[in-house]
Amino acid sequence: MRVGLLGFGTVGSHFYELVRGRQDVQVKTVLSRRPRTGVDARVTANVQDILQDPEIGIVVEVMGGLHPAYEYVCAAMRAGKHVVTANKLLMCDKYGELVSLAASCGVCLRCTAAVGGGIPWLTSLAGAAQVDTLTAVEGILNGTTNYILSAMTRRGIGFSEALQEAQALGYAEADPAADVDGLDARRKLSLSADMAFGVILREEEVPCLGIGHITQGDIAAARDRGQVYKLVASAARREGRVSAYVCPALFAASTPEANLEGTGNLITLYGERLGRQSFLGAGAGGWPTGANVLRDCLAVNGGCESFYASAMVPQAVDNTAAEGKWLFRVNGAYTTKRESVAEAFSDYARCLKEDPCAFMAQMR
Ligand code: HSE
Repeated sequence: MRVGLLGFGTVGSHFYELVRGRQDVQVKTVLSRRPRTGVDARVTANVQDILQDPEIGIVVEVMGGLHPAYEYVCAAMRAGKHVVTANKLLMCDKYGELVSLAASCGVCLRCTAAVGGGIPWLTSLAGAAQVDTLTAVEGILNGTTNYILSAMTRRGIGFSEALQEAQALGYAEADPAADVDGLDARRKLSLSADMAFGVILREEEVPCLGIGHITQGDIAAARDRGQVYKLVASAARREGRVSAYVCPALFAASTPEANLEGTGNLITLYGERLGRQSFLGAGAGGWPTGANVLRDCLAVNGGCESFYASAMVPQAVDNTAAEGKWLFRVNGAYTTKRESVAEAFSDYARCLKEDPCAFMAQMR
């Protein structure tokens, strides 16, 4: 199958290298504003050279951002081309529309690299949802924040230095606020919950707290208690309600989550009969993410026809019944409280009025 590659950044260039020399998947044309030396494919700045080429069967979209990726992906499907994308922003924002368009155009839409970097999480999740009723998905879904928290915890370096390292290694989003504020994890959680529960969540309804307020003092105090901070995204379905939120969480130092290093992701599904299944691996980076893009291309080559989920019912987020134990730091003093997720987030909003540096974490 011939591929038209939209984007030649970290993921695109590594996907290209993975494909180089293969017979089953070949990059015919690369869309790039800049000339690319050493690329054994046509390089063009005009997307029509890909969309109107009948030899191209798969469009791989790894340019990121909402526009013009959305327009290009829709045009590709309308032109009868299968689409493989790593774009979580696009998939989260246009989930129902893109899945419906793929079905009506009779093409395959794959986005395994959008969640979990190199982990075949979405394919495993879809497989689990076919054999069991899934009750929850949760995990450490953002590699950059895991890198930052690991570096602050293990090496004692500051937040800014750790973020700069993650950026230099190509892990962070173009605007790293998407990582630090938890928005990237929230998108990945929404996509995972959509596929696990056959719903469509609106990501704006998912309360989200990032790692920006965690200080070296918080990390040191946690270490003294034998605990480690991680950014966790959780969604659960109980009696027809779906809860979902993103928040820093405290784990005992002996747990797998606490020991997840670097840009690792650790994602878990819970099924009524399957019980708990966890998936651990590189959550960011060109090679792992590019490999998941290639796997999707191979799935298309192999005749994969269905999307990850068959149901797509719009569902409101309801955090009133999901309980947790929470740690608050306000004006330097720590307190703990057991209450619902909805109550904890509204308590935290009140705390911020009193202390703009206030911090909250869930105690696991
Ligand atoms: N910025 C993202 C992360 C890249 O750090 O997880 C992979 O989605």
